Amino acid sequence: MKKNILITGGAGFIGSHVVRLFVNKYPKYKIINLDALTYAGNLENLSDLEDSDNYSFVKADINDQEVLEKIFRTYDITDVIHLAAESHVDRSIHDPLAFVKTNIIGTVNLLNVAKSYWKEDLSKHLFYHISTDEVYGSLGRDGLFTESTAYDPNSPYSASKASSDHFVRAYNETYGLQVVISNCSNNYGPNQFPEKLIPLFIHNIKERKSLPVYGDGQYTRDWLYVVDHARAIDLVFHDGKKGATYNIGGFNEWTNLDLIHVLCKKMDQKLGREPGSSAALITYVIDRPGHDKRYAIDATKINKELNWSPSLQFEEGLEKTIDWYLENADWLENITSGSYVEYYKKQYKSE
Ligand code: NAD
Ligand code: TYD
Repeated sequence: MKKNILITGGAGFIGSHVVRLFVNKYPKYKIINLDALTYAGNLENLSDLEDSDNYSFVKADINDQEVLEKIFRTYDITDVIHLAAESHVDRSIHDPLAFVKTNIIGTVNLLNVAKSYWKEDLSKHLFYHISTDEVYGSLGRDGLFTESTAYDPNSPYSASKASSDHFVRAYNETYGLQVVISNCSNNYGPNQFPEKLIPLFIHNIKERKSLPVYGDGQYTRDWLYVVDHARAIDLVFHDGKKGATYNIGGFNEWTNLDLIHVLCKKMDQKLGREPGSSAALITYVIDRPGHDKRYAIDATKINKELNWSPSLQFEEGLEKTIDWYLENADWLENITSGSYVEYYKKQYKSE
């Protein structure tokens, strides 16, 4: 079936991998990448697709109703995969309203435009909302997040994502818009902005800068290689049950400190440095307020229903990620100049 899919946030980290997968795998679909190109959006992430016939880029803000309406008409949008968001917890602590504007109001704006444009027959169209496991709050030592775990967000970021998930569900229940939601664990891989743990630490090790570990480093995250997330999104988009939620995760839990030590060891090897020289950069800094202790996903549903499972072991994914950052020094250099410097000073109170 012919589809004109609007992917929002396609110039960001996960979005760029989703756009690439859809453009290459589905030559009959038209992929329209809508992105406001905030600090996190970067068209360099998609330079390999510039000449693809089934790919278009539009610079736009999801808060701009008129522009969205025009884009729906111009491209006759049939489906939406919505990834555009403010995505970093630490930034949400400094500026919660930016998260309310994009993640909540922007999402509702997009829902309104889609509902109105598709009003002749809502059953032919899908609004797929990409969300996070952080909406479920924090786990203790045991247990996993399932699709029926109650929402319990703790950060302004997760509160804004939880709210947007609720609106998406409400548009399904109230107006009959066909929706699906997936909640994924922490992603890592190429093209991630170096404010998140893994690319930040790769960058700092390269530059011999300190590695700021929040609190005691005994926080646990469940890590998934970004391409495996994109593969899951493909399956949920095509075969997920309408109105359903799918949890996506790596069955791959690490405390921050254990992960950092593996990363340091690999970086020493890759950079030909003395064993232990990267780990010597570890510096304990003041903890993130409201820091969630542990996230871990039970991905049984997507595994059983859609036959999805992660394709990469963590150490292999980490190797690929490190190699990508070392081979793409220009990408990292471009992104860590300009406003990044100001952000870094403010977040880590350093020169
Ligand atoms: P990202 O910050 O790398 O990218 C977000 C993109 O959205 C950027 O290209 C940015 O320019 C764009 N954007 C921001 N505000 C916009 C606006 N108002 N209008 C249009 N575009 C705008 O984020 P990411 O890590 O790729 O995350 C993508 C999605 O996946 C988000 O919805 C996030 O909540 C979700 N998610 C992320 C993770 C993770 O580990 N990174 C895990 C689970 C879910
Ligand atoms: P992050 O990559 O920001 O993802 P999230 O907060 O969405 O899980 O952080 C991952 C973990 O690493 C989290 O427990 C916070 C911790 N962390 C640090 O210890 N130091 C840092 O400089 C950053 C950015 C994160």
